[in-house]
Amino acid sequence: MSATLLSEGAVVSEALGYGVTVLYIVAFSLFIYGLMGLTGPKTAVRGNWIAAVGMGIAIVATLLGVYNSAGDAGVPAINWVLIVIGLAVGVALGIPPALKTKMTAMPQLVALFNGVGGGTVALIAWAEYIEYHGFTTVPDVPSVHVIVGSLFAAIIGSVSFWGSLVAFAKLQELLNKNLERKLVAAAKGFQLANIVLAIVAIGIAVYIGVKAGAGDGPTPWFWIVGLLIAAGVMGLFVVFPIGGADMPVVISLLNAMTGLSAAAAGLALNNQAMIVAGMIVGASGSILTNLMAKAMNRSIPAIIFGSFGGGDDAAAGGPGAAGGTVKATSAADAAIQMAYANQVIVVPGYGLAVAQAQHAVKEMASLLESKGVEVKYAIHPVAGRMPGHMNVLLAEADVPYDSMKEMDDINGEFQRTDVAIVIGANDVTNPAARNDPSSPIHGMPILNVDQARSTIVLKRSMSSGYAGIENPLFFADGTSMLFGDAKKSVDSVIEELKAL
Ligand code: TAP
Repeated sequence: MSATLLSEGAVVSEALGYGVTVLYIVAFSLFIYGLMGLTGPKTAVRGNWIAAVGMGIAIVATLLGVYNSAGDAGVPAINWVLIVIGLAVGVALGIPPALKTKMTAMPQLVALFNGVGGGTVALIAWAEYIEYHGFTTVPDVPSVHVIVGSLFAAIIGSVSFWGSLVAFAKLQELLNKNLERKLVAAAKGFQLANIVLAIVAIGIAVYIGVKAGAGDGPTPWFWIVGLLIAAGVMGLFVVFPIGGADMPVVISLLNAMTGLSAAAAGLALNNQAMIVAGMIVGASGSILTNLMAKAMNRSIPAIIFGSFGGGDDAAAGGPGAAGGTVKATSAADAAIQMAYANQVIVVPGYGLAVAQAQHAVKEMASLLESKGVEVKYAIHPVAGRMPGHMNVLLAEADVPYDSMKEMDDINGEFQRTDVAIVIGANDVTNPAARNDPSSPIHGMPILNVDQARSTIVLKRSMSSGYAGIENPLFFADGTSMLFGDAKKSVDSVIEELKAL
């Protein structure tokens, strides 16, 4: 009788085990399908929801797996109260910032979420260490994939956690500017420290791994703590000196690293969903990092070891360094120029996001179209502060996707365009990137705004953009400046257009 009961229990447990695997496969299939949705603005929101459902299923599967393994030899008793509290805290901390954060603050939110992911992975590695290696006893000799997976996850997760926190603090402007400037200046000294820290972290990992693999008694806990500290300090030192303009690229890089560390932790835990999701994040983060670096004409090592941008005018010949004559214009003049044009190209940039002028811009474009003017939008891949920033903003205002043209598709059109209206964009229109080999952004592909018959630039002052350098476009013969907040300026142009 008891033998029958036992085998029934084993059958149920085996069935649950298969169920967990099937749920994991469903979950990561949804991750991949959701990610496919993120390739276009039309499907992005749905893609996000699909991936979120996948994550919900993965959580259910994990809890089911935990429940199923309860009672197995060596598995500690499950504290469901702690799990529920953890889930509740996570939900309570995650939802409000995701709902409230402004679009302009999205990069720092991504940095923070990414940091939490990296920190979690490092803690999982720590928990694995305790489970397999104990503080005082050695319950089991871990397999190679557990050793390598958890040690790799510990190092990369810790680097990613601390690095992401610094990225968040910098983007949120929590760091004292003077301190930040000093740290950027000390970047070269940090490089040597980073090499030493990397050697220390890898050295400790090899020591722990070899000892654990040989079943050679417990390794004192301070070795793993030392490893986490060395990797964490390395994360701080790597990100501290990086310039503000490069920060979104660094966040993408840290994101890729978190993904790889999650995949490694998945290997250690034998968790398929973590392996696949981690690899997806690692691969997509690496591709995105490369694309961004390419669009800025910067190499990844130059981003990590150089310092650039962050609005430090002094570092790169600030506004007024070259000078020239600037022509100011009025909303009435801008409206007349555009109303009698055949084609107008709108060039949005970071200032459009700051001013939240997207709805006004759409209204202006509709008015121009009603007057027979063709309106297109030129989207630079790194306009704004995050990938796809301009597409998301314009999509929010129902700008048709067909009117948003990528840089390579629209650049040939500026020469036959009557008016290019630059709204809060600066660096992505800077002709010095094309013409001036001494410019810090020389070689970065730009929108050829200066080739339009007339260019109107909407910004508040002659301040530089994120790269902290002067833009000769503002002094060019065909350029006139409409000074003021972009939203207010576009509203004034709308009034003038209505009156025409
Ligand atoms: P920026 O070069 O940063 O210039 C933005 C301009 O907007 C500023 O010159 C500012 O001038 C103006 N502005 C700010 N608030 C405004 C408002 N309320 N109304 C009107 N104008 C306003 O922007 P961009 O051309 O979009 O270039 C993006 C920069 O970020 C590039 O250097 C790029 O390399 C860097 N970056 C981007 C990314 C991604 S993924 N997008 C990643 C890394 C780095 P005023 O202060 O005079 O108004």
